[in-house]
Amino acid sequence: MKESISAELFEKALGLMPGGVNSPVRACANVGRTPRFVVRAKGSRRFDEDGNSYIDYVGSWGPAILGHARGEVVEAVREAALDGLTFGAPTRREVEMAETVRRLVPSMESSRMTSSGTEAAMSAVRVARGFTGRDNIVKFDGCYHGHSDGMLVRAGSGALTAAEPDSAGVPAGFAKHTLVAPYNDIEAVKRLFESDPDGIAAVIVEPVAANCGVVLPKPGFLDGLREITSRYGALLIFDEVITGFRLSLGGAQGLFGITPDLSVFGKIVGGGMPAAMFGGRADIMRMVAPAGKVYQAGTLSGNPLATAAGLATLRILEKDAGIYGRLERKSERLARGISENTSLPVTRIGSLMSVGFGDDASFARWYSHLLDGGVYVAPSRFEAMFVSDAHTDEDIDSTIALAAGFSA
Ligand SMILES: Cc1ncc(COP(=O)(O)O)c(C=O)c1O
Repeated sequence: MKESISAELFEKALGLMPGGVNSPVRACANVGRTPRFVVRAKGSRRFDEDGNSYIDYVGSWGPAILGHARGEVVEAVREAALDGLTFGAPTRREVEMAETVRRLVPSMESSRMTSSGTEAAMSAVRVARGFTGRDNIVKFDGCYHGHSDGMLVRAGSGALTAAEPDSAGVPAGFAKHTLVAPYNDIEAVKRLFESDPDGIAAVIVEPVAANCGVVLPKPGFLDGLREITSRYGALLIFDEVITGFRLSLGGAQGLFGITPDLSVFGKIVGGGMPAAMFGGRADIMRMVAPAGKVYQAGTLSGNPLATAAGLATLRILEKDAGIYGRLERKSERLARGISENTSLPVTRIGSLMSVGFGDDASFARWYSHLLDGGVYVAPSRFEAMFVSDAHTDEDIDSTIALAAGFSA
């Protein structure tokens, strides 16, 4: 497999951008490789500058549930683009988007669009603070909620990969308002509330953790959070940036039957374009400007192209009754194939899975084995694998066959 053009571009990029990339994990430094520069992606495949093709299980880190460049989605974006790229004024599509999301996820009574999951999570936290008049937030060790200051505490994948759990540049005075509990440890959450009964505005959680490998919530954990937050007058925020529209049409909350007060969506909701959303109880969302006193805004929020891509994606997911069944079947086969043919543990829920590695060195060998064999997974052992509707049975078979040749 050639990589000379990618290597040349990366060399150039290193002199122009920190680490040669626009988002840290892309740099591949921890797996001892250099990034493959992408020229194109279609269906289940991505293609690089050197003419190599890969079966892609990153899917742009989650959005590509339909596979890359699905015809209807690209066409929706093209049509929208012909009418103008951005207006900074309300459009019909934004109303349709809010309606669609509320139909699929009934807790989203009122919502607002942003351009990234980071902004959406940051805004949800601010709304929770404004609504409750309290300052502290509980988050879980290894959960990632974007890179706003208060959320960069024990924040999972990117930070874990860089072995820097806390970022420089976050004032201690901000971080002190973020209380951290171990994921799945409801007793720890109870203790935090007992020691600070009137100070905690919200608990924010990935209902399935997917930024420290995939970690399933233990039975009773999410119900326990619902119960404790209600008892203490705090809000429960589900960060469904990864789980939303992936685990089910109603997200993790639909699957587990738990209703949070606020939710955060990203990735799939933007259909591959920069769109995300936060929302929830209408009485809480009335706090958001201009209805209320919590300020939140964005030049490109509800951008026509991004909204068109998201809407087209959600419409396909809603109409195609067989899609989640197909995703489940393929993902189950892939997970079983990997675990039966290697000694590696696989954790999976629906089309979200991760292969467990105890150390970076053996993960780096796994990564290189797959990459050199034409299978693209995220260059971090804390990131998930995503199966899309575009993956074929042949893709799954050849991935399993390649994995079978890996010796741990
Ligand atoms: C659960 C979760 N929340 C929030 C974010 C931040 O989203 P974005 O990268 O769009 O800012 C991510 C990104 O991976 C995520 O996985």
